[in-house]
Amino acid sequence: MNFRTSLLRCLAALTLGSATVLLAQQMSELPLAMTPPMGWNSWNHFGKKVTEADVRAAADALVSSGLRDAGYVYVNLDGSWEGERDAVGVLHPNPAKFGDMKALVAYVHSKGLKFGIYSSPGPVTCGGFVASYQHEEQDAAMFAEWGVDFLKYDLCSYHSFMAGLDPDNSRALDEAAYEKMHQALIKANRPILYSLCQYGLDNVWEWGPKVGATMWRTTADVKDTYELMTVIGFAQAGLSRYVNPGHWIDPDMLEIGNGGMNVEEYRTQMSLWAMLAAPLLAGNDLTQMTDETKSILMNREVIAVDQDTLGRAGDRVRAVGPVELWSRPLKDGAVAVALFNRLQGVSKMTFNLNEIGWHGPAKARDLWAHEDVGTITDSYTANVPRHGVVMLILRK
Ligand code: GLA
Repeated sequence: MNFRTSLLRCLAALTLGSATVLLAQQMSELPLAMTPPMGWNSWNHFGKKVTEADVRAAADALVSSGLRDAGYVYVNLDGSWEGERDAVGVLHPNPAKFGDMKALVAYVHSKGLKFGIYSSPGPVTCGGFVASYQHEEQDAAMFAEWGVDFLKYDLCSYHSFMAGLDPDNSRALDEAAYEKMHQALIKANRPILYSLCQYGLDNVWEWGPKVGATMWRTTADVKDTYELMTVIGFAQAGLSRYVNPGHWIDPDMLEIGNGGMNVEEYRTQMSLWAMLAAPLLAGNDLTQMTDETKSILMNREVIAVDQDTLGRAGDRVRAVGPVELWSRPLKDGAVAVALFNRLQGVSKMTFNLNEIGWHGPAKARDLWAHEDVGTITDSYTANVPRHGVVMLILRK
């Protein structure tokens, strides 16, 4: 990092606070989110049916529900907004579902929110819509002109170019595709957070930062089932060493509130994503939230773990079959601990302070019960519900 870059970063951090996306305008790099990005994405609930009205309603609901003030600021429109590319190469939104995109982005901005969009390096997106292949600069410039703040760039049909290549050539092509859009975004001269979506191929965590990425998907698509959510979430074990402020692993979006899991299971997703320092992108219909859904998505104590400014991810300490102990180092020497029970029944779980490298007594607080649970001197035992979690924060 050169002197000017460091100076501007320091000034931006001082001015805007540590959780703020640092502006990198007119510098040869893209913005970094110094804590994991938070917001909403249209895909998990609306899929290909999403309309402009849905996006506006989501923006309204982020504000009225209190989600925005809890940190959820991105309104990310996923695939299926796309219409046709015209004779001069301009990609138009699907006119049956979207009107003036610049006006939509302005509406989202007027609510104190940020706007995200979606495309692919291939000729078509995963949904079969027109994508950015050979139009990277043109699309990036258009996104910048609309006022876009976030781009999810999804490998999709580009994958077919990589098929059959040996691992080195496949990885080189993969990296080149993402680097191409990285350069296009820099040229577009607007700070657009770059989110890679290529399902964790080619050890993306090793080269994501090099191509300007702030976050990168590490898995196939999550679904609204406990089985798939946990297969994806717990498979992140071991990736914590690739996480640091501005570089986050993305085990896909939240399913909380979509109806396929019970309260303990959704608390597990929220807790595990917070332990992983993963982006928190709600994927439900924000206009139809129960109090239970709100209490999970807006558990400020769990959000604070996710957003901890030390910026180090947690990891698995031990797993005895389906019973897992995870810990995450936090600022000021605090530690978050999560006991996950993947069994079919309640499990009595115990952990010792020395297992997580803690010396001396620890003042413990239960982040789902929202209560202090006393001082732990040696070990702690809790009854963890079926498919549930007990999440603690330990402080000196
Ligand atoms: C892929 C991505 C999803 C979503 C869809 C849209 O499957 O992994 O997150 O963006 O494409 O078609």
